[in-house]
Parts: sequence; structure tokens; C-alpha cells
Amino acid sequence: MNMLTFPDTYVEILPEVRDFLAGKHQLYIGGRWQSALSGATFETIDPSTGRLLAHIASAQAEDVDVAVRAARATFDSGAWHLKLTPSERGKLIWKLADLIEEHAPILAQLDALDNGKPVTKARNVDVPLSAEHFRYYAGWTTKIEGATIPVNTQGMFNYTLREPVGVCGLIVPWNYPLLMAAWKIAPALAAGNCIILKPAEQTPLSALYLARLFEEAGFPPGVFNVLTGFGETAGAALVAHPGINKVGFTGSVGVAKTILRNSADTLKRVSLELGGKSPNIIFADADLEQAVVGATWAIFGNNGQSCTAGSRLYIQRNIYDRVLTGMSDQAAKIRVGMGMQIDQPDLGPVVSQEQLETVMGFIEAGYNHGGKSVIGGKRVGGALAQGYFIEPTIFVDVQDHMKIAREEIFGPVVCAMPFDDADEVLRRANETPYGLAAGLWTRDLQTAHRFAAQMQAGTIWVNTWGDTDAASPFGGYKQSGHGREMGKEAIDLYTEVKSVWIKTG
Ligand code: NAI
Ligand code: MG
Repeated sequence: MNMLTFPDTYVEILPEVRDFLAGKHQLYIGGRWQSALSGATFETIDPSTGRLLAHIASAQAEDVDVAVRAARATFDSGAWHLKLTPSERGKLIWKLADLIEEHAPILAQLDALDNGKPVTKARNVDVPLSAEHFRYYAGWTTKIEGATIPVNTQGMFNYTLREPVGVCGLIVPWNYPLLMAAWKIAPALAAGNCIILKPAEQTPLSALYLARLFEEAGFPPGVFNVLTGFGETAGAALVAHPGINKVGFTGSVGVAKTILRNSADTLKRVSLELGGKSPNIIFADADLEQAVVGATWAIFGNNGQSCTAGSRLYIQRNIYDRVLTGMSDQAAKIRVGMGMQIDQPDLGPVVSQEQLETVMGFIEAGYNHGGKSVIGGKRVGGALAQGYFIEPTIFVDVQDHMKIAREEIFGPVVCAMPFDDADEVLRRANETPYGLAAGLWTRDLQTAHRFAAQMQAGTIWVNTWGDTDAASPFGGYKQSGHGREMGKEAIDLYTEVKSVWIKTG
């Protein structure tokens, strides 16, 4: 029996969560739970305390092979995409959404423990958005259509069929564990695919719990499989396996490049949702009160561990000091604390020791290259010294070419830089290899539309930041990725189009 103890400042851990944590954490393959063939496991820990949460099965290449065979067998049997009607599939996906909602307090605690985020944020944001995502795609099962095409040959009927790609390997990160999985699973399911999910090694718990909900909903075995394990082993084996038709990935640019290389031999379909260094521009004519709060949360939301974090902040020179003072005041009020503590904080720790070191390394580079922090810049000690806590940090005296202004930090660190006019800031904003998101704050309609058209990013926010919706496409320009998730665009990622010619004359 796993005798887990938690700090007495924690909210009560739900009995279901305690039971789940104390149980065995195996791979979920073909509707059955099994240990890794090698018996290997890894530890997942609570980043708020650095303490062990659970031992998790660590899938190796041979386990990947078993899972791919199981998913392929289910796909080839047609148990999901052929033997059920579209409406029946939609109902099952909807039922899964209902179950996610029903189990929301449990899922929220699992993500809060595993990732460190405040449990109220997991409960109010991550989990309901995940359920909503499944509902949106439940509606798509009955709407995936082909077309009839007026071809230029007499006596010929041409039409298209839209078919599932087959078996999809979905590799997701740790920043929104359940939600990032939902973004990929829901459209893949709606399109009739079978799935192997590989959650991040830092946050495997909610994916394993989700497998239980698939079982409870009554999905045919083999439609949804979970392989926990490391990227370099389980993830890489999925990418290379000839039985996988498509890889959907969210994570770092470096790993995305490795995935493209490793998928070349089998010419897999690959979609990539990667990071960014998103420019957030505040013009002097903006509603400054709104802009100050918006820009603060654009970076510090989810502790900067968002692919869309507004990490390059451009402020028009004549309001630069005013905005910085406002943001420093806001940042000073942010309460950092343990994700599960009774007195809920605004921000938790970063996800791991590794991430802590990465972010602190960026902060150090910022100082070494001549930057100054107006607030933050240190690891948090005292009662939080065992966890991976970093103060919300605002850097000034930053030049565009500096490392902290160019590379994704993925932590609570923003670079504030002044600008003089619109042409200049547009050029500077676009001078980046990334293109995931960009935003601006202005009351001027022309500026808003001009920047919306000319900023090179997949998402533009005007007088707001961070909004997403299952119905609205999301993805990157340039090195921020390939393809668009969400909306009807995600159906394209998970279907093949077949053109059929029938001689009628
Ligand atoms: P990562 O890209 O290594 O991990 C993301 C997922 O890819 C995980 O499930 C991991 O196991 C898997 N993976 C790793 N190597 C793989 C390989 N060779 N083949 C197949 N799958 C593999 O990201 P990591 O190391 O957790 O974080 C590093 C940086 O990546 C962060 O500091 C941040 O800049 C960026 N990142 C961006 C995210 C986003 O939302 N776009 C999410 C997570 C990280
Ligand atoms: Mg990595």
C-alpha cells in the first residue's frame, strides 16, 4: 500500500484520488491494463513539494509495438468507424464529456497534484474546457462529408469520401495535461480513428484516469490506448512505428524537428503545435487599465507555461513607465503557492526541477546580457523551498537580439521593451522564427485591422489575450507548427480524402 502523505495545508484529497494514487498505474492497451513488458516504471512527483505521487509504467519500444497491434486490430475490424453509425459514435463521445464533467473534481485534483497548477484553475478552466471540446467534436461525427465534383469528362461521376487516417499516435505536453490530450483525442475520435495517447512523463495521471472513463462510457476496446513513458523511448517508438498512420504532437520545437526526421522513413502524416515568443503590443491610445491587467495575465497565466504566453511585451514609449508601474503593481499582488493549498494561490510552481533550471538559466542570461528585473527574478524559498517556485519576473533594458527576448522561456518571465511607431513595432514583432500568437491593445480600428492582417501568427488577439474555443482554429505560422487544431480544420488533420471515379455513360 502506498502511504502518501500530503502537507496539512492541502485541501482534502478526495478518497477517489487517494485510491487512484495508491493503485497500480499500468499501460492501457486494447481495453486491458498491463505493466510494461520490461517491468520498468518511472516516478511522477508533485512539483509543489517535490514529493513522490506514484510509480508509473514506462512503455518501451516492445510495448509500443503491442499497443499499435491492438489499435490496428480494432481499426481494421471497423468496430469504431464502420460498425457504429456516426450518431452512435457522437453519443459515445458526448457521454465521455458527461463523465469528464461528473468526475471533474477528481480530474482537477489529479492535474493539480501532477502539474502544480492551482486546483481551482484546473477545476474551472482545464476540465470544463476539455469536456466542451469533446462535446464540440461529438457534433462533428454526423457532419464529416465528401463532395460531388463537376469533372470535365462526359459520362463520369466523381465524388470524394472522407475517411479516418487510421491509428494516430498523440503525444502531448504537461502544461494543460487533460486539455492538451482532449484537443487531439476529440477530433481524432470524431473522424473515426483509433488512438494511442502518450502523455508527458511529468503529468501522466489524468490520461490514465481518462482511460477509465472511456471504459465506463463503453467505447469498443482498442479505440483508445494510453502508453505512459518517456519521449525518447515511448514517444520515439510511436513516431517510428510503421503501424502508426499519423502523429499529432504538442511540445518543443527541438523535439518537433526530431519527430519530423524520425517520421521520414514511414512518411507519416504529422501535425505539430509548438511554442512561441508571442509579441504583445500596447499602443498609447489603448484602455490602459485593461491593457495592464491583460498584459500581466498574458504572461503570468499558467505561470508562463503556455505556448501562447505573451512573452515579448512592446509598449509605446510615452506610456512605457506608466504601464510598467501598473504591471509591477499587479505582479506584486500575485500570490504564488502550492497548487493544492487551502488558501488557493494565483500561480503554482513550474512543472519540474528541469523546468526550474531552464527558466532560472534564462533569468541568469537576462542579467548577464545587461537586462534588469523590475520585479521578481528569484526562486521562491521559505515554506516553498522544496517545490519549483519562481517569482513572477519583469525584465527591462532588454534588446530584441538578446536570448531572453528571442527564445521561448516557458516560465513566468516577460521582456518589456519600448517602441516609437507602428511600422517599427510591426517589423520587430514579426522578427522571430515563431508565429503562434500575437496581440495588441488599441482603440484605433485601423491599427487593429492592419496588425491583425500583417502580424505573422496563427492567432491574433485584440484588446484581449488567451481566448480559445473548440470551434475556432488554432495553430502556428513559421516554426510554431504545421496544421490547425480545433474547429473544422482539425477534422482535416485526422481524415484522408478519397476521390472516386465512376463511369456512368
Ligand atoms: P518536449 O517537447 O520534450 O515534450 C513534449 C512531449 O513530447 C512529451 O510527451 C515528451 O515525452 C515527448 N517527447 C520528447 N522527446 C520525444 C521524441 N524524441 N519523440 C517523441 N516524443 C518525444 O518538451 P519538454 O522537454 O517537456 O519541455 C521543453 C520545452 O518545450 C519547454 O521549456 C517549452 O519551451 C516547450 N514546450 C512547449 C509546449 C507547448 O505547449 N507548445 C508544451 C511543453 C513544452
Ligand atoms: Mg524534453
